[in-house]
Amino acid sequence: MIRIVNIVGTRPNMMKIAPIMEEMAKDGAFQPVLVHTGQHYDENMSEVFFRQLGIPEPDYNLGVGSGSHTYQTAHVMLALEPLLEELEPDCVLVVGDVNSTLAGALVAAKMSIPVAHVEAGLRSFDRTMPEEINRTLTDHISDFLFTTEESGNENLLREGVPQEKIFLVGDVMIDTLLRHRDKARALNVLERFGLKPGGYVLLTLHRPSNVDEGDVLSGIVEALVQVQEMLPVVFPVHPRTRKRLEEFGLWPKLSGLPRMVLTEPLGYLEFLGLMQEARVVLTDSGGIQEETTILKVPCLTLRYNTERPATISQGTNKLVGNRSEDIVRAVREVLEGGVRTGTLPKFWDGKAAERIVRILRERLTT
Ligand code: UD1
Repeated sequence: MIRIVNIVGTRPNMMKIAPIMEEMAKDGAFQPVLVHTGQHYDENMSEVFFRQLGIPEPDYNLGVGSGSHTYQTAHVMLALEPLLEELEPDCVLVVGDVNSTLAGALVAAKMSIPVAHVEAGLRSFDRTMPEEINRTLTDHISDFLFTTEESGNENLLREGVPQEKIFLVGDVMIDTLLRHRDKARALNVLERFGLKPGGYVLLTLHRPSNVDEGDVLSGIVEALVQVQEMLPVVFPVHPRTRKRLEEFGLWPKLSGLPRMVLTEPLGYLEFLGLMQEARVVLTDSGGIQEETTILKVPCLTLRYNTERPATISQGTNKLVGNRSEDIVRAVREVLEGGVRTGTLPKFWDGKAAERIVRILRERLTT
């Protein structure tokens, strides 16, 4: 049996691990172990995803919780080392680019356990983003680099990663989306919020570069004042963002806007239900840029760069930055019909996890 320790820590890790765990369970050659680092711990940032996506209960929870980047990374490392000593896995699999990803990969690499990185090779070329450091370092200590789009292969080759370690397999997030689309539609979540298909803007916001500085966040709130005059805005608020809005005294203003619908973070199915019927999505998330590409819903990304260029060259994504007037103008352009619908990147077909599991079985069977 091939024993694989799969590591998750944050909300966007859950939709990536779900199809991988499912494929490993189907394939009789694997003994998958699931470790949750506990980086995200709220019911609506973690547990709801396990339930809705059918992810098995984690075998171990490291209970690390919130803290500085160093705190989180170091505590995951300290808790994981004895566990890996005990489990002696054939491989450690990490997904994405969060602190838990790097911490897991680093412990395994130091113990000479092969590391598989799912969603390898993405680069924003912006080292001020914590994720850019996490993904670059993780890639360079990984043995199996599973990429989602061609740009990932090009970046890795340019950085000197040997070709034989790189596998373009497609996007596991899209596997999950395709499996849950119909279930999400059946929830009728629009009714709950009193919305009509194509009649609202969906917003997410949590990047430190957008929410941690008062003047930037206040500029975004100014933009939202105008956007909600055009169409109602639904905004599931990330805990980090909520805290900042309150700290900067912006919460009363935002919650007082007549067509702003503020909610707690939503479950996967509820959010997918809202995303697929939105007129336009405003976000600074990585994964949502990919999901809107598949759904062919216009996406305006409140950042100046993206590590997912296929969502722009082929998909529905556009970078608009975080200045108030740029956001408002971009929304107006979409509403006036200015954004084309795209094509789908290679292997964004619902079979990425199947490819990953097949490759791991072939390479790890001795
Ligand atoms: C992390 C990831 C980011 C990912 C995001 C998705 C890193 C460096 N960042 O950012 O790449 O896009 O998750 O959400 O790993 N909090 C809660 N409850 C929770 C989790 C967090 O209240 O369950 C609050 C805490 O106040 C915490 C803050 O949110 O301090 C930030 O959480 P943290 O895990 O540090 O980073 P995220 O901003 O969520």
